[in-house]
Amino acid sequence: MQAMGIPVWKPKDTPHPPPPSPSRGEGEEEMPSVLLNSYPSSLPSPLEGRREERLGAGRGVRGSSCSHLSWDELRATVQSCTRCDLAKTRTQTVFGTGNQQAVWMVIGEAPGAEEDKQGLPFVGKAGQLLNNMLAAIGMPRETVYIANVLKCRPPNNRDPKPDEAANCRGYLERQIELVNPALILVVGRIAAQNMLQTDAPLARLRGREHLAPVSRTPVVVTYHPAYLLRQPADKRKAWQDLLFAREVAARYVR
Ligand code: URA
Repeated sequence: MQAMGIPVWKPKDTPHPPPPSPSRGEGEEEMPSVLLNSYPSSLPSPLEGRREERLGAGRGVRGSSCSHLSWDELRATVQSCTRCDLAKTRTQTVFGTGNQQAVWMVIGEAPGAEEDKQGLPFVGKAGQLLNNMLAAIGMPRETVYIANVLKCRPPNNRDPKPDEAANCRGYLERQIELVNPALILVVGRIAAQNMLQTDAPLARLRGREHLAPVSRTPVVVTYHPAYLLRQPADKRKAWQDLLFAREVAARYVR
């Protein structure tokens, strides 16, 4: 929370996290020192609950173009993908990582230099902040599934081109189908616009519950952690988004 500029919880005095707030708004729950590394890992998740007890999420209503593929087949398909020129410049594909039965799925834009090198999403500085944000809301990185709109790094970290995003869309849709999360947290304008197939600005996308186009999974949008590293004053608003995401997810988990 400190990394988000928010007053710190005292773990010893709070054996259980407070329940989700009934509505959004300033001051509804203090921001944790998340954005340091100090969140107590022993704190139980507010979304604990058996996967099969989830109420919502469309469970692949229309199906993705890769809906016949298993995890292994999908990973192999992505690894050998040459649908666009990004295949020529990537070091390797960045498929996604995490809990394949996650309640929360996090979706970013595209791999950066470090991700391209390691083959894993969000492993650079922005990834460290994302980890802290997730820990602060009680959904540590290892409990969620993390993927990107693009599976290959765009040269010089330029924005994804529409055809690149379109080529990768079926892969992401299949990942969503396979995980079947109760909630998708989308970080950043570019990822949100691609996910939701809109050109609305981030300000209009935050603070509302959306539905993912194919799976009909609830979607909440927040700032990209790389943006928050540049604009730490907006961490407070990001914390409000995380509280809102927790509230939305709780509607779909018993
Ligand atoms: N930014 C993203 O959107 N995704 C990553 O994996 C890393 C940085």
